[in-house]
Order: sequence, then C-alpha cells, then structure tokens
Amino acid sequence: MSVTDPQPPAPDAGADAAQEALRDRIAADSLTTRRDYLRIVATVSGGLAVGGVAVASGILHRHGDADGTPQPKRIADRILPGESLAFRYPGDEDRAIAVRMEDGTLAGYSAVCTHLACAVLWRKDRGSEGELYCPCHEGIFDARTGAVTAGPPPRGLPKVILIEQLDGSVWAIGTARSGESLQEGLCRQQGDALRLCQGVSGPGAAAERSERS
Ligand code: FES
Repeated sequence: MSVTDPQPPAPDAGADAAQEALRDRIAADSLTTRRDYLRIVATVSGGLAVGGVAVASGILHRHGDADGTPQPKRIADRILPGESLAFRYPGDEDRAIAVRMEDGTLAGYSAVCTHLACAVLWRKDRGSEGELYCPCHEGIFDARTGAVTAGPPPRGLPKVILIEQLDGSVWAIGTARSGESLQEGLCRQQGDALRLCQGVSGPGAAAERSERS
C-alpha cells in the first residue's frame, strides 16, 4: 500500500516543542553524537535516510536551495516496508518522496525528475527491489542511491535526509544535492555547528563556505 500526501497535522504547541527539541538535538554539538552520525550515514547507505529539486534547463531552482537552513519536519508517524510517502520538503512547493524497501531501508528524494521536472513515482514491483520511475520519458532511478539507471535524466535525484525517531516517526532534516553525500548536504546546511561536519569537505560544502565567506 502506498501512502500519498497525508495532510500534515495542524501546528500545535506539542508539535512545535517536538520540532524545537529535534532541532536542538541536531544542532547541539554534544548531542550530535557519533551515534547520530552513524545512524544517519549507516542507515542512509544501507538504512536511514535520504533525499531538493534539480536544475532542469536552468529554469528550476535546485531542491533544497530555498533561503535559510531547512527546518526539521515530521513527515509521518511511521513508514512500513513497501510503503512510499509523498510529501513536501524543504519548501511547500518542493515535492519529495520517501520509500521504505522490504529490508527496512528508508530513503528520501526529491520527486522532481532531473530531466524535465515530471513527478517521480515509486514502483515497488519493478526491478529487484523497487525503483523510482518517471513516466514522462521512462527515466528510472535507483531506489537506494537515487542514481540514474535508465532513460534521459542527466543526474541522480537530490536526496532528502531522513531520520527515524525511536517512536517510529520519520523526520526530514535536510537535503543533499545530486552528487553530494548526505553528510556533505547536512553540513552545507548546518555548517560547522555539528561535530560531524568539522573538516568535512565536498563540492557542496566547499561552495557553501565560499558563499558565506
Ligand atoms: Fe523524467 Fe523526462 S521528465 S524522464
């Protein structure tokens, strides 16, 4: 069963508090622990998270290029194996998709095709473990990495960085551009406030630091 575009709960004090707590947790150097880092990186490459909009013909802004640092956003109470979830992140116009594969791997991506910006869909019955599919020109993306596996898209899907809380809730906490690792994307947006970002270099991080200096 796929889950599509659930209406986000109306903001309330509890949600605000939870979001603030998560933001603090991410931003606090002492709390951005090795465990968190490993959880992000390990589960991303085999597990946790993943997934901004790409530039199509120079017209569209890249997913995640909205002003400021993306705010953590609770996107689901939980996502079960085989399910997908359409949501918007980091901006209200930024279409994104989260998928959980049968082995538990959770991944998030921009749902805007890097070819001509059609909507990318999750087809869990295609390929060996499902795939991300663009029906406009048969573009196909690897569900684990977002890389292009077939069709005309010029680059892989930007990622939405997801984390899963102990209660099973799934949060989007940042984005990574095509070609960036999740860590590079997170550090480009969060800066050196995170211990895991100190010394991190990458195309995105370097460019961002240059822009800030
Ligand atoms: Fe997706 Fe062309 S718009 S393959």
